[in-house]
Amino acid sequence: MLRRPRRNRKSQAVRSAIAETYIGEQHMIMPLFLVLGSGIKDQIASLPMAYRWSLDTMMNEIGECLLLGIDKFIIFPAIPEELKDKTATYSYDPDNFYLQAATKIKEKYPTVCLISDVAMDPYSSDGHDGLVRDGKIINDETLPILAKMAVAQAEAGFDIIGPSDMMDGRVETIRFALDAAGYTDTSIMSYTAKYASALYGPFRDALDSVPKGGDKKTYQMDPSNINEALIEAQLDMEEGADFIMIKPALHYLDVIRELKTSFSIPTVAYHVSGECAMLYAACVNGWLDRKKMVPETLLSIRRAGADLVISYFAKEFAESLQ
Ligand code: PBG
Repeated sequence: MLRRPRRNRKSQAVRSAIAETYIGEQHMIMPLFLVLGSGIKDQIASLPMAYRWSLDTMMNEIGECLLLGIDKFIIFPAIPEELKDKTATYSYDPDNFYLQAATKIKEKYPTVCLISDVAMDPYSSDGHDGLVRDGKIINDETLPILAKMAVAQAEAGFDIIGPSDMMDGRVETIRFALDAAGYTDTSIMSYTAKYASALYGPFRDALDSVPKGGDKKTYQMDPSNINEALIEAQLDMEEGADFIMIKPALHYLDVIRELKTSFSIPTVAYHVSGECAMLYAACVNGWLDRKKMVPETLLSIRRAGADLVISYFAKEFAESLQ
């Protein structure tokens, strides 16, 4: 035999010499859930590797992550029901604890890269990402609300704004609003191809943000489609996104690959709550080996084409690299 592919697998030294994909802590983004209060570290029942943190405990968690080499965090607020309304006014209220937390985190840890979430759902009494009228999600009237939210987040110190709402035209609206307010250096990481997936369940438990009526299928994408992902990415490129994102990750590896090869722009994949919960459940049952599964899973997402991976396993992965 002239060709014996096994020769290139014969030892760890040879294997590592020809390894094509590498994933390290610099590729990871750690999601964190923030609640009001102090001394809180509240485990999420359907996402047991993640917690709801108050600012003081979150500060410690961020400190620990920084020591492990994780310096990028995407933060989501759990807003008390009484602060929610139809138009998400609390999202840009100067007293908003999420905005204040960002300022304090950046004060304490100036080197961290903080990523926000822009969407109405955590603040909306309807639980939808956009404005609801007569049971419909109104696109264009949602845009100025998202823009106000984004400018407030930039002002608070977020480095990257993360619109997750899937309204048409939001990236451009947010870009113009940020620039007009002088935040030309604030980046936009757009949730470009966000599918109407059942895998967000644990996240909605964590934030208590289940839609009060209907579903998100008129704005999040149909899982059967990939052409739409190309259209969304094209628009986000034209509208000024600095990063594009595909979400979920594992069930949509083909979409990650397609967008990565079609567009020369940093590409992010969100290994979402339901994906992490499934993996966790199999591992706690002893059906899968967590120490091996976590790196293999994250590596697969990188191999598909993701430059960066958001995962609730980010910290655990960084620990395993130590
Ligand atoms: C909110 C938002 C969601 C997620 C990120 N931002 C949930 C949703 O759209 O209902 C899901 C993330 C996850 O499941 O880990 N706009």
